[in-house]
Formats: sequence, structure tokens, C-alpha cells
Amino acid sequence: MSTRSVDITLRRLHIPFKRRAKTRGERRSLCHTLYASAMRSAISARGKLLNNVLSSPSLWLRPRRAKIGFAVILASVFGLFYLPHYGFKLYKHVSIRYWFDTDAATFNRSNVGELHKGSGWSYLDRHGFESMILVPTQCLNPPILEGNSVFEFGVGTGGAIHVLASKYKLGKVGGTDFSSNSIEVAKTIFPEFKDNFWVQSMTEPHLRIPENSYDHVFSFGAMGMYLSLDEMPFIVKEAVRITKRGGSLLFTHFIEPGGSHVGSIVDRVPKSFWAAHEKMFGVTATTIQKMDDRQKDRYAVCMTKV
Ligand SMILES: C[S@@+](CC[C@H](N)C(=O)[O-])C[C@H]1O[C@@H](n2cnc3c(N)ncnc32)[C@H](O)[C@@H]1O
Repeated sequence: MSTRSVDITLRRLHIPFKRRAKTRGERRSLCHTLYASAMRSAISARGKLLNNVLSSPSLWLRPRRAKIGFAVILASVFGLFYLPHYGFKLYKHVSIRYWFDTDAATFNRSNVGELHKGSGWSYLDRHGFESMILVPTQCLNPPILEGNSVFEFGVGTGGAIHVLASKYKLGKVGGTDFSSNSIEVAKTIFPEFKDNFWVQSMTEPHLRIPENSYDHVFSFGAMGMYLSLDEMPFIVKEAVRITKRGGSLLFTHFIEPGGSHVGSIVDRVPKSFWAAHEKMFGVTATTIQKMDDRQKDRYAVCMTKV
């Protein structure tokens, strides 16, 4: 799809955008936004259609005919709207993985200061990336101390952990990602911990890691950006499981319903979601943290394992 046709389509769909896509990465991101928005509209239309059917008077006046009609409509609704829904999930996995596999294979590996560019952060210079990682860590309770162990879900090429390791002289580090090219790079950045990095989706249980294993568990721009809201409780509980008792967790790049800086974020998460699920997650001290200015109205969340 050309830049121009993506721009025009976005404008027709009233999807706000501030800049033209100049690079391949930006075009990919715009296509992703377009697809995500179309899916959101389809899902909302599905809800409206079900509402209309249920409130129709004929449904209650002629029960038998209405039941058959209702079954037919329900089957069509499932076919029409759930197929794209699951299709979108598949698309999401394939296209996002392809995106990050390509980034990890094409960035300048000889410069460790550009590690983050292998994980989709090519619009940030080294300083901007460090700030994006370090600002949200301010809400960590307990904070990171020298020698602490850190695990990251959606670790990419390891850029975020590298920033933290340089600042805090971390002990054990590890992470998973569904992009095999990214994990291959991360292993070379942390050769002494290469066995702690492997290819796996965040949405699957991390059975290799016993509970209470790491002082801190993070996800910078992965869980918050590329999971749907219904997938989050599982991964949060998995993150809490592998965190040591009294350890802290940090997840970044969430956007609230009504938030503007959506970019390639797949789903919206209300800030109230976190406090409301503290008990279920087994955490306390939930804090919503503003991110670095370049991330605009995106937010991060810190928690402490009970
Ligand atoms: C923007 S990058 C962030 C990488 C790293 N956290 C950092 O800050 O440098 C997002 C990462 O999430 C990974 N990712 C997205 N969805 C995933 C999933 N379902 N399971 C595992 N990794 C996923 C991508 O492959 C990508 O490496």
C-alpha cells in the first residue's frame, strides 16, 4: 500500500494522524493502525447489532419464529464478526513478529548505542531511549539495587535491560520474545546469561522459570502495546508468579480509552483496571506513572508482589 493511499484511507476513516509516513517503518505502523481501527469498529458494530436484535419487539411476540431467526442471526454474527476477530489475532501475531524480526535483522549491530533500533524504537536517539526506560522506573517499589535480577517479557534485542544493566550493575538478567532474530541479538548482548533468553510468546506460561525467581519483572513497550486487554490478566499473573515476594514489577506503554497517542498500540487499558485487579494479581502499591514526554499520554504501571 502506498503512503498516499494509507494517508487518504486514514483520513476517510477519520483516524487522526499528525505526520505523513515517510519511511517503511512508519508506513507499516500506519497500516497496522488502520487494520486495528477497522477491527475495533467491527467489534463495536457486533455489540450494536446484538443489542438491536435483543430489544426487537418481534422477538418477544412470536417466540418460536423469533428463536429460529435469532439463531440464524447469531450464527451469521459469529461468522461475520468473530472470524475477523480471530483473523485479527492471527494477523497481529504474524505481522508484529515479522516487523520485529526484520528490525532485529537489519539494524546496525556494531553500535550497542543503537540496540534499541533493532526493537522498533528507531525514532529515538540513544538519550531519548534511555529516558523512555528510566523515567518510568521512578515508581518502582522497591527500586532497582546493584546486583538485582531482572526479567523482561517482550525483551526484543535487550535494549531496555542493557540501559538498566549499565546504570545499576544488575546481577542475573533474562527475557523472552516471540521474535527469534531479537532473541538471537539479546543472547549476544548478555552472553553470560544467554540461557535465560529464549523464544516464546508472552501469552504462554513460562514454565522454565520457577516462582519467586527475579527481583524485578518488566515489560517495556511489549505487553502494553501488543496484547489485547483480555490477554493481560494471564501475563500479569505469570509475571507476578516469577517475581520474588516483595519484589517489584513495571509495565509500560499503556493508553487509556480516549487517549490520543495510540500509534501501534493494539488495545486500550483504563488506569482503573490495575487497582481493580490488585487482589487477583497478588500485588499491592499499584502506582500509575507518567512516561517520558515523547510518549505523550501513554502511561506505565508499577506494582509490588505481596
Ligand atoms: C517495541 S519492542 C520492545 C522491546 C524491548 N522491550 C525494548 O524496550 O527494547 C516490542 C517487543 O515485543 C515483542 N512482542 C510483541 N508481542 C509479543 C508476544 N505476544 N510475545 C512475545 N513478544 C512479543 C516484539 O517481538 C518486540 O520485540
